[in-house]
Amino acid sequence: MNDAKEEIKSRLAVEDVVGEYIELKRAGRNLKGRSPWGVDKTPSFMVSPEKGIWHDFSANKGGDIFTFVMEVEGISFREAIEKLAAKAGVELKKYGNSDTKIAKKKTRAREALELATKFYQVCLTKNPPVLDYVFYKRNLNKNTVKEFRIGYSPKDGQALKNFLTKKGYTENELETAGLLNRFKGDLFRGRMMVPFINTDGSVIGYTARVLDKSEPKYLNTPETLLFNKSRYIFGYYQAKEAIRRDGYVVIVEGNMDVISSHQAGVKQAVATSGTAMTEQHLKILSHLTQDVRLAYDGDEAGIKATERAINLAGNLGIDLSVISDYHGTKDPDELIQKDKSLWKKAVENPKPAVDWLLDKYEENLNLNSAKGKKEYSDVAIRLISYLKDPVIKKHYEQIVAKRLDVTVEDLKSKKLPSSPTHRLKPVTTEFEKPERIKILEDSLLSVMLFGGEIGSKINLEVPEDETKLDELSLIFETKFKNFNKEKLEKAIKEMLAEYNRELSRLKIEELSKKAEEYEDDEEKFNDIMREIEKLQKG
Ligand code: CTP
Ligand code: MN
Repeated sequence: MNDAKEEIKSRLAVEDVVGEYIELKRAGRNLKGRSPWGVDKTPSFMVSPEKGIWHDFSANKGGDIFTFVMEVEGISFREAIEKLAAKAGVELKKYGNSDTKIAKKKTRAREALELATKFYQVCLTKNPPVLDYVFYKRNLNKNTVKEFRIGYSPKDGQALKNFLTKKGYTENELETAGLLNRFKGDLFRGRMMVPFINTDGSVIGYTARVLDKSEPKYLNTPETLLFNKSRYIFGYYQAKEAIRRDGYVVIVEGNMDVISSHQAGVKQAVATSGTAMTEQHLKILSHLTQDVRLAYDGDEAGIKATERAINLAGNLGIDLSVISDYHGTKDPDELIQKDKSLWKKAVENPKPAVDWLLDKYEENLNLNSAKGKKEYSDVAIRLISYLKDPVIKKHYEQIVAKRLDVTVEDLKSKKLPSSPTHRLKPVTTEFEKPERIKILEDSLLSVMLFGGEIGSKINLEVPEDETKLDELSLIFETKFKNFNKEKLEKAIKEMLAEYNRELSRLKIEELSKKAEEYEDDEEKFNDIMREIEKLQKG
């Protein structure tokens, strides 16, 4: 795999790979552009053609072409190398000797799923009642059916298995692909087949709907080597371009809502399975845009999902809003059937998620009673505690205080409720990790390694990864190259001081968490407190 990696690197220029996503301009020996993560105010994305690397100073990430594609597309290393190999005209198979057994299993499963999808597509065309369901009941047109590769699985429980067995696939391989049930027959029978299409365009599973009222309504591919529910985003492949172009994504509950929405011209729609959105989902989407619009039902599940999303969004710098105007219909699909222009309008006029939730709380509680006020303040305070930005936090504190006719101080004097609703796990993300420390560490390392004599004042562990070293040299060039000795010395002194402060702050944070755990063990508790005090004194 390493040989393949090198071969690809030698054939692709970093500025060409990055240039497909970002407009780059010359800046001396390097190129400069805007962060694809939309966090910079001035261009802060640097590319070094000589070294074949990039560094984003505003998002504090960097690496080579592989890490760039992984980050910007939100895909795995494997997917990134496949993508770039295709672009470079490098045949990965040639380097396949080092391929793991797992990789081979995945390839076979992928091939089986591709054939299965074609098989289901053919079965659809031969089945007038199913065609009737797809084209007239669901109102899908030919283009949509083709784009989403919709098909039909025959009722006879062996048809697909027989077909793929003849093509040389073993029972075991079909199981790996998630195509068989526990009796080793076809898992999907008599259903409309909607493929789960991966970020690279390959099929990794299905969601399959009955055509009548029987149960279960949907049957989905179980977790397999290829299909991972908590990462997979339905519609991502088809929506990616539009999301990037228009700068927002719409998350709906149902897969059919995605399909209808695309057909109606709102191509920014994707779905996570139902309301079960995970941090990974949001992280993947945050690479495309910060503007995330939720189109969930306004029911209890929708409210809970929105609260969860707000908690997750804060850490990722995502701006979350809610699309809620369904004009009395049940979901986006139904709204589109009624009048697609209403859906378009709804998507363009979302409400900030916190406002939407506060309104929902108010709707569901009686704010004229003491009990209602208490409950409202409980949920509102919890919600506000998820917000990261101090200005936004203050904004909502004031709104909530006003609605309750109390002061912000009254509100703050309330302890955070540990009610059963407070069951969200604290979320840690790469972004939440002390970002500032990482930035300082990179800067200090860059001076230590490339700053000549002055750098010897710094004593940090040298990273082994060569790409990282190249990146550090780019950081040095961009940030410190023009500093004279005096200025550099001063910068080092300040950075080291801040770095140490941040480190001890981090340590104190960890210790306080630990102290909480030992609240009942006085001796241990006091030990920890002493340690904290020591750190605080510096
Ligand atoms: N779902 C599922 N299994 C079920 C029911 C629902 O996996 N038995 C998932 C599907 O992904 C579905 C989503 O939950 O798209 C929302 O469910 P629901 O609102 O019941 O279905 P709709 O999306 O409205 O489906 P349809 O329009 O086909 O009835
Ligand atoms: Mn529906």
